[in-house]
Amino acid sequence: MTVSNRQLRLKSRPKGMLAPGDLELVESPLPELKDGQALARVRFLSVDPTMRIWMADIPQYMPPVAIGEVMRSFGLAEVVESRNPQFKKGDKLVGFTGLQDYVVVDGQQASAFHKIPSIPFVSDSAFLGILGINGLTAYFGMMDIAKPQKGETLVVSAAAGATGSIAGQIGRIHGCRVVGIAGSDEKCKWITDDLGFDAAVNYKHPDWKERLAAATPKGIDLNFENVGGEIMNVVLSRMNLFGRVVVCGLISGYNKEDPGLASFGVVLIKRLRVQGFILLDYASRFEEAGTELGKWMMMRKLKHRETFVEGLDCAPDAINMLFTGSNIGKLIVRL
Ligand SMILES: NC(=O)c1ccc[n+]([C@@H]2O[C@H](COP(=O)([O-])OP(=O)(O)OC[C@H]3O[C@@H](n4cnc5c(N)ncnc54)[C@H](OP(=O)(O)O)[C@@H]3O)[C@@H](O)[C@H]2O)c1
Repeated sequence: MTVSNRQLRLKSRPKGMLAPGDLELVESPLPELKDGQALARVRFLSVDPTMRIWMADIPQYMPPVAIGEVMRSFGLAEVVESRNPQFKKGDKLVGFTGLQDYVVVDGQQASAFHKIPSIPFVSDSAFLGILGINGLTAYFGMMDIAKPQKGETLVVSAAAGATGSIAGQIGRIHGCRVVGIAGSDEKCKWITDDLGFDAAVNYKHPDWKERLAAATPKGIDLNFENVGGEIMNVVLSRMNLFGRVVVCGLISGYNKEDPGLASFGVVLIKRLRVQGFILLDYASRFEEAGTELGKWMMMRKLKHRETFVEGLDCAPDAINMLFTGSNIGKLIVRL
């Protein structure tokens, strides 16, 4: 089969938001498959804030993407040819596909790709969001670190995004009063009217701090933090004694290559327990999380939403969309 592969390679490290040309579209022929390899056509690309971290040459939890390398990304691909008995034509795999049309799954990396099951009424793309990175992240952050108790007040930032929307619903399932912080009235309406959050605060509104105070009359026991910076400062200032803070992400700092952590004095004064985590730490328990999330979905206790962008060449703009808040729920590029 002679097919060429379009790839987005990292050409220059972005300064701030991605600029045109930071990722370069390159077309190259696909290599001949060797024994142990399979060729898979990428169908969906997961757009994740951490991609902006991977582009930066800063200390991080995985090696930064090197200049000239295919940009790392998570995605879903369908096997079109196989010389590996573990994979047959038509199998759908999720894993590190990279921003490209085709991925060669090597025998040695085979464990980095997982076959997804076919489940009635569950779309394939759900395995990138609610049953993938974001659902699993919300699950472990809430169940292992936050440990929500009935009657506690939980505040989630980036609450209408892929991870925050699920973390908040898990809080509701466990009887918390859940308050979301998001960047538009439309997002606030979605998380309260459709997802059942108790209240939502649009942080772009001039009096959002007063609105947050009104929405958290008994203070805040749990913070599922996705944003950092000023939002986190304001949330921490309302924490109750011995509150728990789950540091899932600090997106407000990613374009500045600054962790954007809140001021730390409050951690001492309020005796807070603050814990960061990375989803990959929980790899051995992904199945457990997938089963629980699937059950809640079937019971209609967990809902999700996706925003699609069409075409590989739109992937750089899609990454920027995360930082302008142009997505509701999971952001996915469809190829
Ligand atoms: N620890 C882990 O293993 C792990 C795994 C996955 C994700 N994460 C983290 O979880 C967070 C959410 O990721 P996601 O994939 O679910 O993305 P997402 O929430 O679907 O999208 C990002 C959202 O962040 C908000 N945002 C962006 N810049 C902001 C700013 N300066 N101030 C306030 N809000 C801002 C935007 O919503 P608004 O319209 O509300 O501003 C945007 O829609 C990120 O921090 C990410 O790094 C961590």
